[in-house]
Amino acid sequence: MDIRRLTDRLGGLAFGGDYNPEQWDEQVWKQDDELMRRARVNLTTVGVFSWALLEPEEGRYDFDWLDAHLDRLHANGVAVDLATPTASPPPWFTLAHPDALPVRPDGTRLTHGSRDTYCLTAPAYRRAARRIAGALAERYGNHPALALWHVHNEYVTLCLCDHTAAAFRVWLRARHGSLDALNEAWGTAFWSQHYTVWEQILPPRATQWHKNPGQALDFSRFWSDETLAAYLEQRDAIRVRSDRPVTTNLMLPGYQNLDLWAFGREVDLVAIDHYPGAPGVDAAAHAAFDADRARSIAAGAPWLLMEQGTSTVYAGGRVLAKEPGEILRHSLAHIARGSEGALFFQWRQSRAGAEQWHSAMVPHAGPDSRTFREVTATGEAVARLGELAGSTVRAEVAVLHDSDAWWAMRVDGLPSSELDYLAALRRAHRAVWDAGLTADFAHPEHDLSRYRLVLAPALFLLTDTGAENLRRYVAAGGTLLVQYFSGMVDERLHTRLGGYPAAPLREALGIRVEEYRPLRQDEQLTLSDGSTAGSWSESLRTEGAETLAAYTHGMLAGSPALTRHDFGSGYGWYLSTRLDDTGYAALVGRLLTEAGVAPELPGLPPGVEAVARHAPDGRRWLLLLNHRDDVVPLPRPGHDLLTDGPLRELPPGGCAVLRAH
Ligand code: GLA
Repeated sequence: MDIRRLTDRLGGLAFGGDYNPEQWDEQVWKQDDELMRRARVNLTTVGVFSWALLEPEEGRYDFDWLDAHLDRLHANGVAVDLATPTASPPPWFTLAHPDALPVRPDGTRLTHGSRDTYCLTAPAYRRAARRIAGALAERYGNHPALALWHVHNEYVTLCLCDHTAAAFRVWLRARHGSLDALNEAWGTAFWSQHYTVWEQILPPRATQWHKNPGQALDFSRFWSDETLAAYLEQRDAIRVRSDRPVTTNLMLPGYQNLDLWAFGREVDLVAIDHYPGAPGVDAAAHAAFDADRARSIAAGAPWLLMEQGTSTVYAGGRVLAKEPGEILRHSLAHIARGSEGALFFQWRQSRAGAEQWHSAMVPHAGPDSRTFREVTATGEAVARLGELAGSTVRAEVAVLHDSDAWWAMRVDGLPSSELDYLAALRRAHRAVWDAGLTADFAHPEHDLSRYRLVLAPALFLLTDTGAENLRRYVAAGGTLLVQYFSGMVDERLHTRLGGYPAAPLREALGIRVEEYRPLRQDEQLTLSDGSTAGSWSESLRTEGAETLAAYTHGMLAGSPALTRHDFGSGYGWYLSTRLDDTGYAALVGRLLTEAGVAPELPGLPPGVEAVARHAPDGRRWLLLLNHRDDVVPLPRPGHDLLTDGPLRELPPGGCAVLRAH
């Protein structure tokens, strides 16, 4: 589906948020209409938690109230992103289908009274979800307010009940073909885990000691496939009745239950929710990380920031406020990286109920508030950026991102608790971001030829195809940095014997790792180039690579820590330890220089982002975000779309969008 239809119909980029009018009365709805016009809202997500009202009892629908809201929004010039309410089944559903309540790994069956209380594999739940999605599509498929379908809300929950066990076995049969193959893949010859009939196999519930790693990895894959299947059922129920694009809002949390690449292929528009996990510059870096992931799983196409908070920074068990100016800056951080707009959860802050203290566009204090003034200013800014619709972002650096590798690094029994996939990924992305550049994420089996530099920070699991792809990338002229604990296992989690990493990759790196040596907590190493490192070390020998830094202590003294291999037309780098932040930033900086990657606007100080969006017809815009608290003179003045005037310097915390064509 052509996503330009969405922005064409909105007349520019999207601005708005989740709208839950069922919490309010007519007087408030009238004020909402006026305030939405003031804030330049053009898109609202409606119905996301409305199942109990839409279907008050099984099979009986009440759509009248929703008709009224959709008509009202339409009359007010606000388009609707209509949600299917399946993330929050009503109490009648769970009472009628107790077997559809989710079960935790320890066997506890949850009860209703919150949200997301369903088991995705329970046939009754899937039937009910298809039914309500179909009924909504039947009713609203051609409604003039309807711009987009929003299936479900953040598919993140897990369930380990008997329905799940049965579905897991079906999936395993399809993947492995035979029990012999499964036993071989999972290494069940050890610890007496051999399975003789399929019914013996369970999902990874609470166990006495380490769970079988193959079982855990396969379960992650299965759950992602099952979730995608649930999404596709709803999508298809909608598609036969409506021609509007369909999406689901992906949460990109610190854990990973979904193969984001697979979802990226199936949604008509990638949509994500983003809530920063730290304040200040770290929040900006976090936004860039998730936005770059969203764009990458959208295969570079425009995508949409479906949810953010006006005042929500989750940090240390607290919800911190966003500082003045951050509502706009965070919104533009996403738009800079390809989002076709900026939406929030939610329009009006709840007076009661479970998310009463969650921020909103209209806060408890009402429109006469700093938050609403900043929301309105942000709406005006977004409205000025209509010409950016459909333009995309180009990156010359990629960080490798693979769900299998992530899931594999969650299994029990790894040699160090400091091996953290997400932390490694964020660190690599952050080093590129700190250098003033935008990075894509790529799968290890993707075509990487468009990138000058590829970083592989934690590629624990790597297939033969992936290893060969990386070898070819370097041979053809790419620069690749592989970091420790990569290429250790194949897709069955079987270790690469005879030295790590996987053979074709080893060839490109010109090294062979013989032994991994996690360091004691707080142990620090100094390398021969003066940099310091910790957490991990490896004993490796070069097989063609040159040693750029060596270990200086203990039994590894003199052996290579950082190497570079001149291979084919490119360079394969290997880093066998965890450099400290300064050393890592210096290494990534050096790689960027050697690979010939330059920032969009050279000369900006750290803490100022410059990201370009390109239109297919050659037009180009530079989005500038100053996360610093001082004035930053621009190396090159330009015309700012936000003020429609010339711009020579960025004020503290200021933003600008320059026409650069
Ligand atoms: C998620 C949900 C919203 C809301 C926010 C709160 O993103 O989709 O319903 O709960 O979190 O941060």
